Amino acid sequence: MKIQHVGVVGCGLMGSGIAEVCARSGYQVTVREINDELLRKGLERIRKSLSKAVKRGKATPEQMDEALERIQGTTELADMANCDLVIEAITENMEWKKEVFASLDTILRPEVIIATNTSCLNITELASVTQRVAKVLGLHFFNPVPVMPLLEVVRTILTSEETLQTALAFGQSLGKTTVVAKDTPGFIVNLLLVPFLFDAIRAYESGLASREDIDTAIKLGLNHPMGPLTLADFVGLDTCLFIGDAMYEEFKDPRYAAPPLLRRMVLAGHLGRKSGKGFYDYS
Ligand code: 3HC
Repeated sequence: MKIQHVGVVGCGLMGSGIAEVCARSGYQVTVREINDELLRKGLERIRKSLSKAVKRGKATPEQMDEALERIQGTTELADMANCDLVIEAITENMEWKKEVFASLDTILRPEVIIATNTSCLNITELASVTQRVAKVLGLHFFNPVPVMPLLEVVRTILTSEETLQTALAFGQSLGKTTVVAKDTPGFIVNLLLVPFLFDAIRAYESGLASREDIDTAIKLGLNHPMGPLTLADFVGLDTCLFIGDAMYEEFKDPRYAAPPLLRRMVLAGHLGRKSGKGFYDYS
């Protein structure tokens, strides 16, 4: 089946980035948010990101206008009915995601693939609420979506080879480099990233070094674009905690056990960049 029209459920940080990248790659996009206010904010985020791309010489003003014309915002899931592929990118909540998957299953043509951008939730469990288990898989994008070149394609034990191949071709059509992983918590990147971030937080918590020195050591010693504490703030401390907890729940491996400081910072509302305060102050 030829993919021409992509549905994106959720227009937050990840959903808006996914919608933008799809539209820039020539796809018709329908993006859904739960209310007009969130939809307006999401579409505004897309517009700002495209303007930045134009300023940085990554797109022409004409390409920006064309991409925006291809994006249709809605608050109705039913408006996805004509989509050829749908990517769910809502909040990491299994029950909410299951509701979306079950609804999409009744709305979409039976041959349409439903993908999730989840970073750690059980994709097989999501597939199980649909009648199209072979057509469900993970498409895990990285933040910021328009800039990060990787796409993790996650197959469950139920995903068909045809679905996997279609998803790989789709990912490559977005200009992403694809890697394939099994449906296990964290896939490839978060499996390795989470213990790294948690170790950096433990090192800071234990007084090994200042946060700046931990970050500088990794940035300059390993040539990473960001130090781990800056990266944790960038990802969102609540998100780091959520992913760690989900991985610990399944693996029971202390590598994924959240550092006490992280849990307390999240409880205190210090969520990183998005709340204005995390390991660093962004106010
Ligand atoms: N569209 C297209 N290109 C854009 C763009 C946009 N909206 N915005 C920026 N760019 C381009 C810039 O032109 C620049 O390209 P160039 O190198 O060819 O000049 C490049 O992207 C970098 O942009 P900036 O100069 O604005 O930004 P920085 O150089 O400060 O880099 C960063 C910012 C890309 C965020 C960098 O710090 C970085 O890579 N950090 C690490 C990010 C990371 O690890 N993300 C993954 C998090 S984990 C995750 O998402 C998984 C989840 O499950 C937790």
